Amino acid sequence: MLAVAALAGIAVWQAPAASASVPLQYTTNRYVGSAVAASYLASEPDYRAVLTREFDNVTPENEMKWGTIEAVRGQYDWSGADAIVRYAQQHHKTVRGHTLVWHSQLPDWVAALPADELRRVLRDHITTEVKRYKGKIRAWDVVNEIFNEDGTRRDTVFRQKLGDGFVADVFRWAHAADPHATLYINDYNIEGLNPKSDAVYELVKTLRKQGVPIGGVGIQAHLSTQYGFPDGYRANLARFAKLGVDAAITEADVRIPTPPDAAKLATQASYFGELWDGCQSVRRCVEFTTWGFTDRHSWVPDVFPGEGAACLFDENLRPKPAYFRINP
Ligand code: G3I
Repeated sequence: MLAVAALAGIAVWQAPAASASVPLQYTTNRYVGSAVAASYLASEPDYRAVLTREFDNVTPENEMKWGTIEAVRGQYDWSGADAIVRYAQQHHKTVRGHTLVWHSQLPDWVAALPADELRRVLRDHITTEVKRYKGKIRAWDVVNEIFNEDGTRRDTVFRQKLGDGFVADVFRWAHAADPHATLYINDYNIEGLNPKSDAVYELVKTLRKQGVPIGGVGIQAHLSTQYGFPDGYRANLARFAKLGVDAAITEADVRIPTPPDAAKLATQASYFGELWDGCQSVRRCVEFTTWGFTDRHSWVPDVFPGEGAACLFDENLRPKPAYFRINP
């Protein structure tokens, strides 16, 4: 940033501000969150400080998944999930539970069960986990990524063995375990109007008609600047709201080709800005959560070689242009 020094009219380079004057969480009446990892929360004081300052919702990135909680049948590891929930309570932050039913990070022993046993075990898994944190989780991602890109159902072990009806069942079981948590369906590539978001829309409509306790649609929003901003994003948010459910941006990040430069960061900022402004424009869009907040820790480079730098803060926890676009 170029600032003109008052003294002697000398032009000097001034480092960008370390943070905005008002932390992001106080700039809107939406929940503003980030995915977090219990390990970094415990070992990196600067990570913890920025999280605490800027956000008022946390989503455990991996700690509440079945593969973490019960990798071996009957042997539970709640340590990471408990630590994040404890942190949230101490710092008056809400928690988005992530995620109860997902085909990925699913222990092999679960996938191998015969249908009748799978149904019992699934019910028990949901009941045990939701009850453990009853009253401490604002919203749960109950089912995650159950559709293909063309809008057909993903052929998971749950579908193969239990049929499509498992979706209504798991929402009912979760609701019985904590009636006050808002229960979401969550997916990626459903930001805009397309066959996949159409399928989510139709399913939510049907489930609502059947009285199934679904309260929200989670839009992950893992975007890449090389594919353009999703068409019909605001119209899509609006149509979900019209069904009488909440919408949430649950996993936002915007990856760019690495290394970053000023132009790429500006494009990234415009994507984050559109995502943010769209959510602010729809009353039922109640949450804006990013999938991690620092380029120091992000799933992106591992999965998309050549892309990265997808977060609001850089590796040194300095806010990037995208941050200043949504918190000028
Ligand atoms: O914990 C083990 C560690 O013990 C081991 O040494 C290491 C070796 O690979 O793996 C570690 O586990 C990894 C785990 O993240 C924790 O770091 C897994 O391999 C790795 O697959 C896992 O990736 C996570 C991924 O979900 C799993 O599919 C990412 O961190 C996480 O960001 C990502 O999150 C998903 C959301 O849940 C759903 N939507 C998409 C999103 C991005 O893929």
